[in-house]
Amino acid sequence: MAGGLEAALAGVIDPTFERSMVELGLLEVVSQRPLHLRVGLVSPAPEVKAEVQKRVVDALNAAGELGEAGAVPEIAWELRVPTRQIQSNDPLPDVRNVILVMSGKGGVGKSTVASNLSLALKQSGYRVGLLDADMYGPSVPTLFGIQGHPTSRDGKHIDPLERFGLKLMSVGFLLEDAHAAVIWRGPMLHGALNQFLGDVAWGGLDFLVLDLPPGTGDIALTLAQKLKVTGVVMVTTPQEVALQDVYKGVSMCKKLNLPILGVVENMSYFVDSAGVRQTIFGEGGGARIAAFAEAPLLAQIPIETAVREGGDAGMPVVQGAPESAAALAFSDLATSVVARVNATQVEGGLPRMETPKRLRIVR
Ligand SMILES: Nc1ncnc2c1ncn2[C@@H]1O[C@H](COP(=O)(O)OP(=O)(O)OP(=O)(O)O)[C@@H](O)[C@H]1O
Ligand SMILES: [Mg+2]
Repeated sequence: MAGGLEAALAGVIDPTFERSMVELGLLEVVSQRPLHLRVGLVSPAPEVKAEVQKRVVDALNAAGELGEAGAVPEIAWELRVPTRQIQSNDPLPDVRNVILVMSGKGGVGKSTVASNLSLALKQSGYRVGLLDADMYGPSVPTLFGIQGHPTSRDGKHIDPLERFGLKLMSVGFLLEDAHAAVIWRGPMLHGALNQFLGDVAWGGLDFLVLDLPPGTGDIALTLAQKLKVTGVVMVTTPQEVALQDVYKGVSMCKKLNLPILGVVENMSYFVDSAGVRQTIFGEGGGARIAAFAEAPLLAQIPIETAVREGGDAGMPVVQGAPESAAALAFSDLATSVVARVNATQVEGGLPRMETPKRLRIVR
């Protein structure tokens, strides 16, 4: 880059990372005359794109680099979704991020958080799958109102079911009777999980969210051995009795080297008919777990009838009642999760832009 152009572009700050986009490898000059740029976006949100475009054009304008008629440069936009480390034996090579939703505790809302987080990520424009990793008590069929049985197009891989644009897989899809007890011996459990990872045609995904069973169990251990997990979303409720088990969940993550992206305090409060916020289950549980986990408190989700009703009706609240306080809290959670994933990536240096040098103009 020459002189003024170089200096002008070096001063463009990425709105997500608050650092120079050139330094981050998110801004490159493809050609100078005419001016063609390549710009990486770390979020599919249209507001982010608009803001970046404004910053680039403002910088060029200030430096008198906009050409004669103030012509705006050609920009080739690329979505740069952060990606976990993927080793050669990874069972999910096309899945950029694997997020575990867990807790040490049962009934705190793991499945509710996993399904609504998945939907909120999908609504932000990402490609998302949800894997029900609770083999004994699968929830995904009920939460999404799906009974169907997956089929296989190639005779080798199971095709996930789809709902609201999400790819879904659950052991509940494979059972003849949804109410049947599933009795697994250890090796069968691992076999089923391995199949869900390796034999399901997930295709390319930006995020695969896993809804884990309660307890400090086996599943997380198996996962940690099989692949590099992007991070854990730890779910708790505010009250003291729940916390004891959640501390154990956090300790297990530390032992297994599973990074904790942050904590969700579910059933955090209830807004009564007079509009007053009632903290039925007490206060501060989420913050305490977050401090212990050395991770941020990502969201506080209110108790709302719509959440339970949506879950029972096969229409998670983010889909069915998007204006409700709980749905908005889940959307904010998705934003915070993405920000945390991005931040973790940038600490280790963002990967370079992947596409070849050839200009690909997407406007
Ligand atoms: N914020 C909320 N407001 C109202 N109801 C909620 C909320 N979160 C969860 N619930 C309800 O609480 C119940 C338990 O939630 P969920 O099944 O998600 O918990 P879980 O942690 O996955 O349970 P398990 O340990 O059995 O897997 C469900 O009926 C769900 O609809
Ligand atoms: Mg569950």
